[in-house]
Amino acid sequence: MKTSIIKGIGYYVPENIVKNKDLEKIMDTSDEWIQERTGIRERRWVLEDSDESTSSMGTEAAKKAIENADISPDEIDFVIFATLSPDYFFPGSGVLIQRNLGLKEVGALDIRNQCSGFIYALSIADQYIKSGMYKNILIVGSELHSGALEKSTKGRNVSVIFGDGAGAVILQASDDPAKGIMSTHLHSEGKHAEELVVISPATKKWIDKLVEDPDDDGSSYAPYMNGNFVFKNAVVRFMEVINEALIKNNLNKDDIDLLIPHQANLRISQFVQKQLSLPDEKVYNNIMKYGNTTAASIPIALAEAIEKGMLNDGDILCLAAFGSGFTWGSALIRW
Ligand code: ACO
Repeated sequence: MKTSIIKGIGYYVPENIVKNKDLEKIMDTSDEWIQERTGIRERRWVLEDSDESTSSMGTEAAKKAIENADISPDEIDFVIFATLSPDYFFPGSGVLIQRNLGLKEVGALDIRNQCSGFIYALSIADQYIKSGMYKNILIVGSELHSGALEKSTKGRNVSVIFGDGAGAVILQASDDPAKGIMSTHLHSEGKHAEELVVISPATKKWIDKLVEDPDDDGSSYAPYMNGNFVFKNAVVRFMEVINEALIKNNLNKDDIDLLIPHQANLRISQFVQKQLSLPDEKVYNNIMKYGNTTAASIPIALAEAIEKGMLNDGDILCLAAFGSGFTWGSALIRW
C-alpha cells in the first residue's frame, strides 16, 4: 500500500504587522494583557485597501509548496481547501485556487473545520492517497480574519487573538513504508457549536428580516467566543487526541521528536508540553508572531520548523488541533 508523505510545503503572510501596542490605540487593551494571556506579540492583518484575499494568500502559499515539492501544477490531482473565512459565502475557495494556479479540471473540496481544518484535510488526503486514487494532493489552509473582526473594546477578547495568513502542503504517494502519515484521528462535539461561532451570513437568518431588524447591530457577523470555556475544553481534548495517536501506534510520549500544536494560545501549547514532559526543542510555537491563523497555523508552523532544521529523517512528528465546532484532531507522521 502507498503511504502519504509531505513532499512540499510553503506559507505566506501579509506584510502588514500589527503589534499589541497598535491595538492599544483602537481598543481598551494592553500589550501586557495580551502577552500574559495568549503569548501573542504581533500578528499580520492585510491592509484594508489591499487586494489580498483568503484565496490569493492561499495561492501564494500553494505556489511555494508546489515549487518546494519540485512538481508541476499539472501533476496535482486534487485540491483541499480549509478555511473559516472564505472569499465568498459560496462557491468555496478551492475552485479559486484551481483557477488561480491554472490547474487541470481536478476536484476541489472545501472543508469547514476551523482550527482543526488542516488536520481534517490531511486525514482526507491521506485516505485518497492510500486508496491509490490520487498521487499529488494540494492542501491549503488560509484565513483572512481581519476583515470580520470587531476591532473595538466590545470585540477585544477575540480580535486581539486572530491573524491572517496561509500555509500549503503537497501530500504525495510514496512506496516507502517507513515514511509518511502513520494515523490521523478526528473528533467533534456539536453541542458546543455556539461557544465559538459566527452566526451570519446563514440560512437560519432570512435576509429580509435581517435588513428590517432594528435590534441587529451587526454583532451576528462578528465572531463570538466563550474564551474560558473553550480554553478548558481545549487542554483536555489536545491531550486526549495526542494520547489516542500514541496508543494507536504503540508509542509513548518520549517517542515524539517534534510536536506542533495548533497555535490557539501559547498557554494551551505550554500546558500540553508540560503534560507530555517535552523539552522546549521538541515543541514549535510561533503564535507570538502571527496570532491564531486557524486552518493556516499548523502548515505555517511546520514550514518554519523545517526551515529551522527541527525535523530529521525518521523523526516522529505529532500535529494536534482543537477549535470551533468543537472539533479536534491529531496526526502522527514519520518524517
Ligand atoms: N484586553 C484586556 N482585557 C480583556 C481583553 C483584552 N483583549 N479581552 C478580555 N479582557 C478582559 C475581560 O473582559 C475580563 O474582564 P473582567 O474580569 O473584568 O470581566 C478579563 O479580561 C478576563 O477575561 P477572560 O475571558 O476570563 O480571560 P481568559 O484568561 O480566559 O483569556 C482568552 C481569554 C485568551 C480568549 C482565553 O480564554 C483563550 O485563549 N481561550 C481559548 C481560545 C481557543 O483555544 N480557541 C480555539 C481555537 S479558535 C477557532 O477554532 C476559530
